[in-house]
Amino acid sequence: MARMPEGRRGADWGTVAADRRLDAPAFHRNHRPIGEVLRRHLRDTAGHLIEIGSGTGQHAAALAPLFPALTWWPTDVVPEHLESIEAWRRTSGADALMPPVMLDAASADWGLGQPGRPPCEALVAMLAFNVIHIAPWAVAQGLLAGAGRWLQPGGRLFLYGPFARDGVHTAPSNAAFDASLRSQNPDWGVRDLADVEAVAKVAGLRLKAVEPMPANNLTVVFAMPSPP
Ligand SMILES: C[S@@+](CC[C@H](N)C(=O)[O-])C[C@H]1O[C@@H](n2cnc3c(N)ncnc32)[C@H](O)[C@@H]1O
Repeated sequence: MARMPEGRRGADWGTVAADRRLDAPAFHRNHRPIGEVLRRHLRDTAGHLIEIGSGTGQHAAALAPLFPALTWWPTDVVPEHLESIEAWRRTSGADALMPPVMLDAASADWGLGQPGRPPCEALVAMLAFNVIHIAPWAVAQGLLAGAGRWLQPGGRLFLYGPFARDGVHTAPSNAAFDASLRSQNPDWGVRDLADVEAVAKVAGLRLKAVEPMPANNLTVVFAMPSPP
């Protein structure tokens, strides 16, 4: 197995079981509020959904069964994470949760439409939970470009995590988290929503909603406009 790139997984992730399932403590605190937001925005939606940076795979396993009309494609770039996602998938019993796919959001070619990978059509949603601040800015740029390229009209991109607003952290805990991220890797850091929105706009996405979440996080929802 390839060596895991340093720092990509959460520092506090543990192993749950011999089948290589990983456990992220934050998942237990955030999956219900995230599920509620997705339920409000995706209630009547059918089609394909790509989750970028699925990590342990716990969100996919817990949330995919709530959306049986969505074919859920979990992805990541770290082999150990792909193993954990597959192990959680086997426990979930969700028929429409697909095997995990290696996908680097920063790359220009996501390989969509190839065998065993998400299709190019009917992509109604993309998700990235806790990804763009724990990855270089190029990952946010690639993610937004990919969403603009592949989401069908009316499709949604959901970004969950901490955000600064107009150059200001929204809480002391987010400022401390930002400093800690940057000390681990100078290319990481809490992103400013205005910077994210500017790149999203170039990609053809419109800011649809900013949902306040527990622990000073946000879920930011972008939409691909429908033709008039
Ligand atoms: C902090 S973890 C969040 C995992 C999960 N979404 C969660 O909220 O628990 C960030 C994830 O992004 C993934 N990641 C980092 N760089 C990436 C890239 N270029 N493309 C796709 N995923 C990436 C990491 O491997 C890791 O699984």
